Amino acid sequence: MKRSQWGSRLGFILASAGSAVGLGAIWKFPYMAGAQGGAAFILVYLAIAFTLGLGLMAAEMALGRAGRGGIVETFRRLGGRAWALGGLLAVIAGFLILSFYSVVGGWTLAYLVATVAGTSLTQDPGSLGARFESFVADGARVVTYHAAFMALTVLVVGAGVQKGIERLSKWLMPTLFVLMLVLIARALTLPGASAGVEYLFRPDWSSFSTSTLLEATGFVFFSLSLGMGAMITYGSYLDGRAPLASSATWVVFLAVGTALLGGLMVLPAVFAFGMDPAAGPGLSFITMPAVFAQMPAGELFATLFFLSLTVAALTSSVSLLEVVAAAVAEALGIGHRAAAWMSAAAIFAAGIPCALSFGAMRSYTVFGLTAFDLFDAISSKLLLPLGGMLVAVLAGWVAWSRVAAQLAPSGAAWLPAARLVIAVIAPLSVLVILLHGL
Ligand code: TRP
Repeated sequence: MKRSQWGSRLGFILASAGSAVGLGAIWKFPYMAGAQGGAAFILVYLAIAFTLGLGLMAAEMALGRAGRGGIVETFRRLGGRAWALGGLLAVIAGFLILSFYSVVGGWTLAYLVATVAGTSLTQDPGSLGARFESFVADGARVVTYHAAFMALTVLVVGAGVQKGIERLSKWLMPTLFVLMLVLIARALTLPGASAGVEYLFRPDWSSFSTSTLLEATGFVFFSLSLGMGAMITYGSYLDGRAPLASSATWVVFLAVGTALLGGLMVLPAVFAFGMDPAAGPGLSFITMPAVFAQMPAGELFATLFFLSLTVAALTSSVSLLEVVAAAVAEALGIGHRAAAWMSAAAIFAAGIPCALSFGAMRSYTVFGLTAFDLFDAISSKLLLPLGGMLVAVLAGWVAWSRVAAQLAPSGAAWLPAARLVIAVIAPLSVLVILLHGL
């Protein structure tokens, strides 16, 4: 079968940035920065993103274009039979992440529907918290929205790399930037917003600790979609011999920039209304609605906010499903569309316990974790770092000459520095996160 390809380099960059920019940038980043002391966390995150993150991003894209296969096949081609197991690990990671990611995607969809219907806002932040809790505990509703979000994802992936994923990204990524700029303009013109800006950009090093460093490194993986073959799979659809280094830099730049924009969109508004920036995962679903409720034309801005969350989540979920579907198609020798639907059905089923983790299945725990927290912990604390380690060793040691030829076909002065990051710094820092996580 002829292998799918991106229509253009721009399409590839936007699709990869779409994978990276997701709930991580808009939902997780503001509350992590909020809880970890603002600017200090951000500076550390930036430094790690442009060294370790950029190195691994380039390595994944290069492995993908050199291997030209699904993730399992690419690992086997470039590393030998035993490496196929590493590919399998990445597929499992993608499967687990999408199971709970799609549940949160469903929440954003539900809040979008509710704001459009004009029923999500009340003046009282206390009742918004209670409302969020009763929503996530309502099994029938959360499973329905999880199904709807998964259906959107599989419709895009099933339509193919160029007609589905690339087309979606070309429309939605620019839309997302515009939506975010509108929301930022609104947030920054609120009286009292400057405290939030200051919080984001004036570092308070007293709140800095080793855990800031580890949290920031872990978040670089998650927010750049590294460690589970998303960029390998996307790279495998890239034709030609153009150097990959600049594409990787673009994607990191767009992803990091969007996370900063996410912070600017949320934190100044939170400060302007005297809310707690360290409110945790409820920041998007409880604090922000409270902020919108107090704002003129709040319904409109709330709709734009949940639209941008949904859009960002969708361009990421398609990349997760694509990794799994491409590997399944290759393993079973079936078509891409059939593989996408099969994988989506299985992931939907695995996501049901995650969806019910805040209600009916709240007390079914393993190691004290609900299915939702367990899937999250296994994937982000164990499988992603492990995947990152395998990528680094494969790209930096086993297949370096092929990776280098992809990154800079006629050589470049920075290649030794890139190799140092990929082959030495990346495995060592991943080892530290892994040990810490356990
Ligand atoms: N990067 C996405 C986000 O920030 C999540 C994501 C998509 C992801 N694909 C991934 C995370 C692959 C790790 C690996 O929301």
